[in-house]
Amino acid sequence: MNVLVTGGAGYIGSHTVVELLESGHEVVVVDNLCNGSEVALSRAEEITGRSLVFVRADIRDRVAMDAVFAEHHIDAVIHFAGLKAVGESVEKPLAYYENNVNGTLVLCQAMEAAGVRRIVFSSSATVYGSEAPVPYVETTSRGTTSNPYGTSKAMVEKMLEDLVAADSRWSVTLLRYFNPIGAHPSGKMGEDPLGIPNNLMPFIAQVAVGRRDELTIFGDDYPTRDGTCERDYLHVVDLAVGHLKALEARHESGVAIFNLGTGQGVSVLDMVDSFVRVNNVPVPYRVGPRRAGDLPAFWADATKARDELGWVAEKTLDDMMADTWRWQSANPKGYEN
Ligand code: NAD
Ligand code: WQD
Repeated sequence: MNVLVTGGAGYIGSHTVVELLESGHEVVVVDNLCNGSEVALSRAEEITGRSLVFVRADIRDRVAMDAVFAEHHIDAVIHFAGLKAVGESVEKPLAYYENNVNGTLVLCQAMEAAGVRRIVFSSSATVYGSEAPVPYVETTSRGTTSNPYGTSKAMVEKMLEDLVAADSRWSVTLLRYFNPIGAHPSGKMGEDPLGIPNNLMPFIAQVAVGRRDELTIFGDDYPTRDGTCERDYLHVVDLAVGHLKALEARHESGVAIFNLGTGQGVSVLDMVDSFVRVNNVPVPYRVGPRRAGDLPAFWADATKARDELGWVAEKTLDDMMADTWRWQSANPKGYEN
């Protein structure tokens, strides 16, 4: 298949590009590099021994997107491009609606014009909202989102559902990721956040490598096993394989929604302890106040992905820790090295 990967130079996109190339698909990446790196794409080529096409463009640029579809015979789109920082979205809501919602709108208009009606979209567990019963299951309706980032994901899901309702030739797969972490086992690709990491795993890795002094654990008075929040962390390579399975298993039109997670809740303290145990490096931490908006605990019911896509998360928490450290210790400054 010829697959257009938007946001393919980013964290999850670049790992998915590797899986696509290894499975024999042809890949065209469109990325504006606002949070991605061309080095990630060279590394993907190095790992797989195959080449891809890279177009530096913004998905909101209709002329550029039309040119991509005119120049390449695209069979399907995996759509990662977007902004993803929850805190920033509260401060700059319009940037999030512009990039995530309008960007997807322009992409779909270009797809429609080119007669390409197959899309796999990067959605998020955040669309379940704070009231959903745990574990989250796809039959639960979208809930009330608590920040513009989450709202932008819910809006795009709804837009894509409306598209299918209007034209049944569209095939839309909404993948709701839980907490992707880890890195490619080669140590050549991983997460490379700009500035201070918002997320737990890259923060732990940067403390371990000496870029930050200590981790602050946001609260230890939650109603959980050890008082810290629990999340469903899954290995980015498992997540990447999930995209491949979604692409290869779904041939029918319509909308399908899948949770991609392990089905296990892991606490913040568990995360720190496993990182230290597996990698034998210290991670100093202190406990601070709760972070606004954090839910105590949630994880996925991932049985639908298993039953319908034949996908299960295979890698262990220890794999996630070892692969994160292999990447971070070999690339202390990320792709800048
Ligand atoms: P990322 O920031 O590493 O990758 C996104 C890529 O999209 C970057 O390379 C960026 O340069 C590019 N991009 C952004 N806006 C663009 C635009 N307008 N035009 C072209 N390129 C653009 O993020 P990621 O962690 O790889 O996430 C990928 C997708 O998965 C995002 O849509 C994100 O919201 C979603 N998601 C991520 C997580 C997570 O925890 N990482 C969880 C759930 C969902
Ligand atoms: C995990 C746990 C923190 C940093 C976010 C988005 C979500 C999705 C994935 C895109 C929480 C704690 C964190 C730190 C800490 N993204 N923590 N110290 O919040 O579950 O999910 O990323 O869709 O929408 O909200 O992930 O990695 O930020 O936090 O104690 O320095 O680690 O409080 O309990 P989160 P996270």
